[in-house]
Amino acid sequence: MSTKTIGTRLHRFIAENEAQYPGATGELSALLAQIGLAGKRISRALSQAGLMDILGASGETNVQGETQQKLDAIANDIFLDAFAYGQLVPAVVTEEMELAAYLPENEVNGKYVVFVDPLDGSSNLDVNGGVGSIFSVRRIDGGGAFTSEDDLIARVSRQQVAAGYFVFGPSTMLVYTCGTASGVQGFTLDPGIGEFLLSHPDIRIPAQGLYYAANEGNVNEWEAGPREFVKWLQSRNTPSGRPYGTRYSGALVSDVHRILLKGGVYFYPATHKAPDGKLRLLYEAAPLAMVLEEAGGAASSGTQRILDVPILRSHQRTPLYIGGTAEISALESFVRAQTA
Ligand code: AHG
Ligand code: MN
Ligand code: MN
Repeated sequence: MSTKTIGTRLHRFIAENEAQYPGATGELSALLAQIGLAGKRISRALSQAGLMDILGASGETNVQGETQQKLDAIANDIFLDAFAYGQLVPAVVTEEMELAAYLPENEVNGKYVVFVDPLDGSSNLDVNGGVGSIFSVRRIDGGGAFTSEDDLIARVSRQQVAAGYFVFGPSTMLVYTCGTASGVQGFTLDPGIGEFLLSHPDIRIPAQGLYYAANEGNVNEWEAGPREFVKWLQSRNTPSGRPYGTRYSGALVSDVHRILLKGGVYFYPATHKAPDGKLRLLYEAAPLAMVLEEAGGAASSGTQRILDVPILRSHQRTPLYIGGTAEISALESFVRAQTA
């Protein structure tokens, strides 16, 4: 029986795939279903945003010192609510909260910590532009309640067990992977029946890219490596598809989703103002890196594979270069030349 039939409902797809793994407990499947529900609720909130007076700044500043939009807070609450039952997730690390949200009722049985960017690209909200949500699931080593934030970070598995994102565009899509050669699956929400349906099975990034995505307004803030890389992307070389076109929406999820489907590279280098980069490792860079690698692409900090960057803090940042393997190895050689 094929489990990759276009139109298969997310719940059925998860259940049928789970059945292929002897000894699977169903817990990761249940967790993915909770994440799916959160995506549907955020999609609904976004579709009514302009009508319900929930657009705009909330008046709060988040842990990153960024202005929080009302919908950032709403999406955050939706994710926390999704994990509140089922005893699966004792802690959620989210962009919007300095300390993890602890769910003590899930402490005894919960095996997973989820890292989320509840709403990515939220500065696009006021202009009805694209936004997304990003999630990453990590297993907990050892039992018992977390004694501190450091204890949580020390005890989450270095490997993600699942990762993905929602992209809220003309349609809402869920793209995720459970790793270990299970592939990257894309589902599209049918709002009429409130179900995610399999629309993009086994996504592979094209070997040759068409586009690069970067905030090139910062070019003079970048180091020599990315500055030379962008010149290379713009230089003519017809057999290798250069020059690349530029597409940049200001929402990491939308931009990386385009790269995943069309090929190319997204990058957010370190700048003089942000020497560690802007994007966060645990709920932006690492989950997207897992998806892109599983789809045949690559993700780098410039000097290191993103999935090998040591995990030190909940909100640590990293430069990010993510896309096709050819583009990422070209970038790394420009960075090596810069430091040689
Ligand atoms: P968030 O809305 O979760 O804070 O993330 C914003 C990120 C990312 O989505 C985007 O690619 C980048 O910030 C845009 O930054 P610039 O405005 O500097 O281009
Ligand atoms: Mn973000
Ligand atoms: Mn965000």
